[in-house]
Amino acid sequence: MTQLDERDATDSTAEAISAASRGSAEYRADPYPVYACLRESAPVCHLSPPHGVDTYLITRYDDAKAALTDPRISKDMYAAMDAYHTIFGDSSVALDDNMLFSDPPKHTRLRRIVNSAFSPRRIESLRPRIQQITDELLGKCVTTEPVDLLASFAFPLPLIVICELVGVPENEREDVQKWCAVVARTGFSKADKDKLAVAEGALRDYFAELIARKRENASDDLLGALIRTQDEQGAMTDGELLSTLWVLLFAGHKTTAYLIGNAVFNLLTHRDQLEKVLADPDLLPNAIEEVIRFEGSVENATFRHALEDIPMRDTVIPKGCLVQVAVSSANRDPEKFESPDTFDVERKGLQSAHLGFGSGPHYCLGAPLARMEMRIALTTLFEKFPRVDLVAPAREAEWLKVPFPAFRGLERLPVALDPTQL
Ligand code: HEM
Repeated sequence: MTQLDERDATDSTAEAISAASRGSAEYRADPYPVYACLRESAPVCHLSPPHGVDTYLITRYDDAKAALTDPRISKDMYAAMDAYHTIFGDSSVALDDNMLFSDPPKHTRLRRIVNSAFSPRRIESLRPRIQQITDELLGKCVTTEPVDLLASFAFPLPLIVICELVGVPENEREDVQKWCAVVARTGFSKADKDKLAVAEGALRDYFAELIARKRENASDDLLGALIRTQDEQGAMTDGELLSTLWVLLFAGHKTTAYLIGNAVFNLLTHRDQLEKVLADPDLLPNAIEEVIRFEGSVENATFRHALEDIPMRDTVIPKGCLVQVAVSSANRDPEKFESPDTFDVERKGLQSAHLGFGSGPHYCLGAPLARMEMRIALTTLFEKFPRVDLVAPAREAEWLKVPFPAFRGLERLPVALDPTQL
């Protein structure tokens, strides 16, 4: 490298770190060039995000996988309460007393209580109902004008499924979705935090009231089963029960909804790949894994923090700092995936390799459900509307702009279900 090349490389690394720290608009619209630069020149880098808590961002596959399973990198929010408060405030603390924000043995205890409800066998039994909901939603979509597939299909499908599974009555779901949307979109400004506190307060009050109602009148849904387990075995505190309900509802619909959108968008913008799937439907499960690798809906794993100084690459993550694992960067690491920026529905060995559902103890509990919903949604959509197409050029797609990069998804997905009818 010449001196000039070295200076350019240093400048672009500094720009990439700054973009990731600030959550710049360009980075939110297309984070992959920033991640490529960081993987190359600053794979474990210090960020100074607007929330003010020192954060280390991990972008390479091997490091990401190791970090997700490293017991020195904790998920216990009570052990990092100051940082957690600073970033999210009281209202989040009250909702997050669940498996996702705890370490073993608490994590093991809380996960075990709901594990069997998400086993592949139990999920398989939901297939007919998921198909029925899918048929109904697509049956209601108009074909004579463009529709936003996110609002009319991708969001309602997983929301109805998880609400039915857990036991949220139909006429109460709209409020839950509205409050969840506020939580998913929160930035770090004072106004954002105030809105977050109101939405989270409403969710907490609603869940407490729903639990009380179901305790009064036993139900045979998952919440009814959790209440019985709590009453009979004392397996969870009241706060843990409420927070478990929250994590299931929130994680159980946002992620899948955005992934349905990302899948449809990428298949419609890579026509050759869509043709392959339509010609050989057995390719669909692999195509879904490739969407999760190429444009998964979870961009960064949830917050972790270092319990001690942790040497990684040529840096040390200091004790107490936050650790952010960019799974969507790891999934584009050329050291792990050949031609990682190519969307290839026939790519081999994906399911056990990509980190789109996380890795280690916090590996996604709902992965079997998400996979089934994705398969039914995509199969039915392309069978019913084989000519479906985007109504605007792909470059005009609007990606979520929230500065905190938790989700990767579209704001809306306007499509013509049958362009011949427009
Ligand atoms: C395509 C859809 C989905 C994606 C991409 C996804 C992704 C993830 C990821 C990356 C994690 C690990 C987070 C971390 O380690 O910080 C996770 C955990 C989790 N997911 Fe999912 N998820 C999806 C669907 C679902 C569904 C449908 C449910 C249903 C309830 C669910 C429930 C959970 C729960 C409860 C955890 C926490 C597990 C634990 O802490 O042990 N997810 N998910």
